[in-house]
Amino acid sequence: MDFSKDVVLAIQAAQAAGKIIKQGYRKKITTETKSDRSLVTNIDQSAERVIIDLLEKNSDHAIMSEESDERPGSSGLTWVIDPIDGTTNFFRKQKAFAVSIALMRETESVLGVVFNPLTNDIYYAEQNKGAFLNKRVLHVAQESEPIKSIIFFNYGSDYEHRETIAHVVRRLIQKFDLRIWGTTALEMCTVALGTCDAFICVGDKLWDYAAAMLIVKEAGGLFTDWFGAPWNGKNSYILAAQPKIQHLIISCVKDLQK
Ligand code: IPD
Ligand code: CA
Repeated sequence: MDFSKDVVLAIQAAQAAGKIIKQGYRKKITTETKSDRSLVTNIDQSAERVIIDLLEKNSDHAIMSEESDERPGSSGLTWVIDPIDGTTNFFRKQKAFAVSIALMRETESVLGVVFNPLTNDIYYAEQNKGAFLNKRVLHVAQESEPIKSIIFFNYGSDYEHRETIAHVVRRLIQKFDLRIWGTTALEMCTVALGTCDAFICVGDKLWDYAAAMLIVKEAGGLFTDWFGAPWNGKNSYILAAQPKIQHLIISCVKDLQK
């Protein structure tokens, strides 16, 4: 499969950031608390710098990145970057976190890369070219029995969103097995991998899921809001699911979307 030079560039940038993150993981990490009560570490900042430098030097796309101001571009496309998705895990030396880089045209991702620096697993997809983990082609699961299904859930820092997700959990837990790792990008990639059936969240930010939403779609999954409508780029009621289970989740949660 031939990928565009932007995919090669995004993989290079994710791996360069991954090196810094892996080294930083073993050292003392310093943190600051942001206005939305989430954490940023010194390593988020240095990993982000490496990614932005590489992308700026080698493309003319705009840049939106979690820890920096937006930078304009001239191509009509925007890089959407999360240098560490799962910052709290990283800071607390848990093992689930990833670098996430997407290239977006308006509300659609045209490429997505998610890199796990501890395992070296690299998930990537380009529009209409399929989704991959390292060199393996990815397909979502075919499971249709709720009792055998796994759903990841997640939430943003907002109190209202946390309340909403508590309702979601109360309902879904009656039928499905639920999981949480605390890294949206990696959780969504497991839907593409076929080792879980869905990911549901409210309140996450675009950089958390911009790359993984394409990886899920290219693996045959559906990326919608909680009504099952294609994501409109505006709200943060997100459902990434394999087709055989999606409608069962929607019937449990659709009235909770505001
Ligand atoms: C966080 C993770 C987490 C999600 C939070 C995000 P960050 O990203 O994706 O899974 O629940 O809403 O903020 O802050 O570690 O990049
Ligand atoms: Ca982050």
